[in-house]
Amino acid sequence: MSQRVSDFYPTAFVTGASTGLGRAFTEMLLADGVRVWGTARDTARLAELAKHNNFTPVALELRDSAAAEGVFIDADSSAGGFAIVVNNAGYGVFGDFAATDFAVWQEQLEVMLLNTARLSHAALRGMRARNHGALVNISSLAAEFPLPFQSVYNMAKAGLTALNESLMVETAGTGVFILDVRPGDYRTDFEGSVRRPPGETTPAMARAWVAFGKMMETGPAPAHAAAALRRALLRRRSGTVRCGRFFQAVLAPLLARLGSLPIKRRVQAKYFDLP
Ligand SMILES: NC(=O)c1ccc[n+]([C@@H]2O[C@H](COP(=O)([O-])OP(=O)(O)OC[C@H]3O[C@@H](n4cnc5c(N)ncnc54)[C@H](OP(=O)(O)O)[C@@H]3O)[C@@H](O)[C@H]2O)c1
Repeated sequence: MSQRVSDFYPTAFVTGASTGLGRAFTEMLLADGVRVWGTARDTARLAELAKHNNFTPVALELRDSAAAEGVFIDADSSAGGFAIVVNNAGYGVFGDFAATDFAVWQEQLEVMLLNTARLSHAALRGMRARNHGALVNISSLAAEFPLPFQSVYNMAKAGLTALNESLMVETAGTGVFILDVRPGDYRTDFEGSVRRPPGETTPAMARAWVAFGKMMETGPAPAHAAAALRRALLRRRSGTVRCGRFFQAVLAPLLARLGSLPIKRRVQAKYFDLP
């Protein structure tokens, strides 16, 4: 009989389960028999998932790190200690770094890096004590190939990937696994949820926005990323999971490794129609 994720991991906590990749991860885990606690800021957005017997909706706002940690600890104790934690919630901000108010960048960094690290910390404490679990932090290929005019998004994802790499070292030889998941462009609500603070749009920004939008619209469906996560969970070892269309997830990282940084930057600029 083929293996299911629930054979090894009976419970999971998924942030940002209401839509996009988080919803696809949740549906994949439920289909594999896992009991899932999934979050949204407004649990009304989890109504469809809540029809599933194995799904528990959780209200969680990542801007308040202490409150978010409290929500996680309560859910963790009612689940008897999560076997999988997927830190997925996040959003983009598209804007010129200098022209955008720093408060916008600070909030994004807090939500997507600091407060996500705090949930990782809370999750790992329990997993390390039980010597069992998979911590999955959803980074991005933007950690390797920065998106234009999304400087702090790139910074948050590069930081999260650095945390994941560090945790892989610290958990080596234990029953706890760390997955650094780096999706390329997927067809989700992400573009719709990318904030564009008021400010001047230069021609370069306008072209980058169009190129970015096209890549998102033509990307694979979120179920493709969920299938990649499922395979990685069943491998039961730490590692990096690059997923997305072949060029972004396979070819570009290979060429970047073989080539030089100036060439990589030139190819990236061309990809986004930039000078
Ligand atoms: N789509 C892509 O192509 C792509 C590529 C690489 C990486 N990623 C990463 O994958 C993750 C999911 O992206 P997605 O495309 O699925 O985005 P999405 O469709 O916009 O979904 C984002 C999720 O995050 C939650 N969220 C947003 N801000 C939050 C906050 N302050 N507190 C708590 N929850 C919050 C949203 O919940 P609410 O219901 O509360 O709004 C929603 O469930 C993100 O970390 C993103 O950076 C996406």
